[in-house]
Amino acid sequence: MSGDVSEFVKSVLSSKATPVFGLGSGSTAYTVLKDIGGEFKKSGIKPMGIPSSSQIKLLLQDYFTMVEPLVHADITVDGADQVAKNGMIIKGGGGALTREKILWSISREIHVFVSRDKMVKALTRPLPVEVMPFAYGLFVESARKMGLRPELRVDQKGYPFITENGNYIFDVGYSAEEDLLQTSKRLKEIPGVVEHGLFVFDCSVHII
Ligand code: A5P
Repeated sequence: MSGDVSEFVKSVLSSKATPVFGLGSGSTAYTVLKDIGGEFKKSGIKPMGIPSSSQIKLLLQDYFTMVEPLVHADITVDGADQVAKNGMIIKGGGGALTREKILWSISREIHVFVSRDKMVKALTRPLPVEVMPFAYGLFVESARKMGLRPELRVDQKGYPFITENGNYIFDVGYSAEEDLLQTSKRLKEIPGVVEHGLFVFDCSVHII
């Protein structure tokens, strides 16, 4: 366990009541949450966890009692794809962005764990956008009209990547001058867009 993770785990264990956890997806969230769950397990406690994907549900089922989305979570632990100096974060590399954004929205505390290489001056990674398949053509045309470069995410065999909500993901390229906050709001207005991966939340970022 890295120093920062072990300090965080200690602080979580010292909470008065066992927190309800939001379980982010991806390899980093898994590593940190497994450490937390492992510590609770030593005391015979299995905290409640709201999973953001079936990946994390499966991996952490021995450590957390999985519950359906509630109206609130105490602590959400997650990873990210890029974190900019101005606090804007890109998520969705694994495709779980919509459920992750719901978790972040219902969470009292959000802790994001990233490696140093994901910390950037300004965001550059294409923005993941979850789109209903029926809106494919409309989305591509609208995004291009906005001067953006939408790329349908595909798997290794070239088939469209399908989210757990049954939708496509477009990784949307943008120029360095783009006002991504405004652009993401405009993208969300296109009918059929479910969610985008720009996260602007009050959260603690831990570099590990
Ligand atoms: C899942 O949709 C993503 O938002 C992940 O949290 C993000 O891609 C980070 O994943 P890793 O920790 O595996 O890099």
